[in-house]
Amino acid sequence: PASAAPPPAAPSSPRTPSSPAAPARSMALLRLRHRELRDGIVAGRSEAVARQHRLGKRTARERLDLLLDEDSFTEIEMYRRHRGQDLTARDERPYTDGVVAGSGTVDGRRVFVYAQDFTIFGGSLGESHAAKIHKVMDLALATGSPLIALNDSGGARIQEGVTALDGYGGIFRRNVAASGVIPQISVVLGPCAGGAAYSPALTDFTFMVHGTAQMYLTGPDVVAAVSGQRVTHAELGGAEVHGSRSGVATFVHDDEESCFADLRYLLSLLPGNNLEPPPDGPPRGAAGDLRPRLAEIVPVEPNRPYDMGEVVAELVDDGEFLEIGEGWARNVVCALARIDGRVVGLVGNQPMVLAGALDAAAAQKAARFVRFCDAFGIPLVTLVDVPGFLPGTDQEHSGIIRHGAKLLYAYCEATVPRIQVIVRKAYGGAYIVMDSRSIGTDVSLAWPTNEIAVMGAEGAVNVVHRRELAAAEDPAALRARLVREYTERLVHPHYAAERGLVDDVIDPVETRAAVARWLAALADKRAAQPQRKHGNIPL
Ligand code: HXC
Repeated sequence: PASAAPPPAAPSSPRTPSSPAAPARSMALLRLRHRELRDGIVAGRSEAVARQHRLGKRTARERLDLLLDEDSFTEIEMYRRHRGQDLTARDERPYTDGVVAGSGTVDGRRVFVYAQDFTIFGGSLGESHAAKIHKVMDLALATGSPLIALNDSGGARIQEGVTALDGYGGIFRRNVAASGVIPQISVVLGPCAGGAAYSPALTDFTFMVHGTAQMYLTGPDVVAAVSGQRVTHAELGGAEVHGSRSGVATFVHDDEESCFADLRYLLSLLPGNNLEPPPDGPPRGAAGDLRPRLAEIVPVEPNRPYDMGEVVAELVDDGEFLEIGEGWARNVVCALARIDGRVVGLVGNQPMVLAGALDAAAAQKAARFVRFCDAFGIPLVTLVDVPGFLPGTDQEHSGIIRHGAKLLYAYCEATVPRIQVIVRKAYGGAYIVMDSRSIGTDVSLAWPTNEIAVMGAEGAVNVVHRRELAAAEDPAALRARLVREYTERLVHPHYAAERGLVDDVIDPVETRAAVARWLAALADKRAAQPQRKHGNIPL
């Protein structure tokens, strides 16, 4: 075991092992040490590695190889190991202490990363392990580079007691200090239990892999002891659960390869920090790009469903976009993409799910996305087709007022360029919330067929003309006439345009071109906020 070897000679120049000045014995030791580090030589580890592979998992270094550009990784504190006093189970002191940390590039752009190694103490976090994570987080923040955490850990190292808990606290505090300054991305590739789950929860995006990733505060055994409920790890906190029900996971993948491919794609759309512009690509001539399919995708009938994802695909460069939180709160679509080379965040109601109505989950998902885009200077394009908030006791009792207010708050405080496109209908409070003029959108565009009003014509007539309808000889005929009149007078975009609430009523085919032109016009937008410690967003 590594613990039997003497401490390594101070490697004055580890990058030049053939230096003629270095004594041969020191160099031999250095090479041995590097090999131990590279291969993580610890008694019994080869079986642990084989087990990792059997489960479809990789070791920390294999994951870094998959994520980073070839030969780009430079490592911190590779010799670090635990102090040894408190470990009673075994006296091994493997180098790395179960986490490999450092910096590398992804498509040539700098990132800082740490990868927990489940093959060493189950990736559990003790004092040394935590200190390395703290250091790499500090370096990410100091250099303004994204931080990526590859989690695969049994949690707090039981043998190290409260020092392990102290280590977690240091991670959480740094997650919060870095929030909105550098993008922070968590990748859960194995267990991530107990308080450990709070680091991913504090970061901007969380990836999980089906079958191997688990997140929960208390495991199945505790659940059974406390409530008698029998539940598997996957049922309690697998990728499926967090990707579709809790909203904890932003991205869910079938395997580590596709997970890292999407992570690289995500990074290609993000700036390194909040002072850097997003990584725009070359302009694509979108200002003259007409899209006839847009008019075909969206049915004129206000209640016929269609896929807002298809609208997004028509608007963005090459039809390519990265959907954020695809499996959860599917009644709202959030996506990162480029329009005419510029990185944008798109938020759209999804008429295929709950008719596109906003509910508590959709409001939370969109609010968090809007705040992310605003923090990192990514312009917002909001595609509106919303019948309103989802009615019902379920929603009211679950706090739709509180959650809807999050989205309202997020838009109200966003200072990035904001473009609203009203695609088909925009009713009531949901119209206001979906980045209307009144809450500060910079530009509002509407398709000519759309409906903007307090409520649909039928509902409006029933409320306003209740007495006349009750007294009418032919209520059906009267209702039809009143609905027609109401629709012609109030429920069209020109009514809003005449009042300055819509800047332009456009042919749907011109939408990509119009959005691209406005993104160019708003690119240098600056907006100051009054000084305060922080607002008090309804949580
Ligand atoms: C020390 C640990 C460990 C831990 C795992 N290991 N978790 N060592 N501290 N927390 C070790 C095991 O002893 C084992 O060592 C090796 O890692 C692999 O673990 P296995 O149990 O063989 O793996 P597996 O069957 O896949 O089970 C994985 C597991 C299980 C579900 C994560 O290990 C487990 O339940 N671990 C304990 C989880 C836990 O209670 N953690 C503390 C949570 S509280 P050997 O030598 O046998 O190979 C917490 C508080 C954080 O984290 C608070 C922050 C605020």
